[in-house]
Amino acid sequence: MKGPRWLIGLLLLCGFLTAARGTADVIEERRALMRALADNIQGIWNGLARGEGPAVESKAKQMAAQAGRVLPLFPPNSFHPPSRAQPAIREEFRTFEGFVDDLKQAAEALAASVHQQGLAEVQPHLTRLMRSCRQCHRRYIQPY
Ligand code: HEC
Repeated sequence: MKGPRWLIGLLLLCGFLTAARGTADVIEERRALMRALADNIQGIWNGLARGEGPAVESKAKQMAAQAGRVLPLFPPNSFHPPSRAQPAIREEFRTFEGFVDDLKQAAEALAASVHQQGLAEVQPHLTRLMRSCRQCHRRYIQPY
């Protein structure tokens, strides 16, 4: 059985490379993810202004998927400059996770609403979505 053993070797190597990756990469990666979230919010605003329901729904779905990528990008050893993330996230990971859930649920609810009834009821969902960003930032980003 050569195949599986070869595969296990490859998986071990991948694990090793992931662990060896610098935390600077993780910080940059989560910042890029945050900027992508901000781009999608902007996209939702634009779609709303132009009355483009499908575009709004698609951006909201992307945001729900992006929310699913947030937590692993905040490992315990990644709270140092240039990051502005509060080290308290480590001790309060449950609370932090709760904000990620808010984000994901708000994005999903927005997408579902647009899917079912176009842009008619989108505003309260968008407000909730933006509140999820703001609440987490208020608590977990260090002031300059
Ligand atoms: C669960 C908490 C949480 C949620 C929810 C969240 N953010 Fe963030 N965000 C952070 C943290 C922590 C940082 C600081 C990251 C760092 O510097 O390491 C950050 C940083 C950012 C940045 C700065 C990125 C950079 O280049 O330095 C932007 C822009 C941003 N967030 C946008 C958003 C938007 C838009 C949303 C909502 C759609 C959102 N965030 C939701 C925690 C969150």
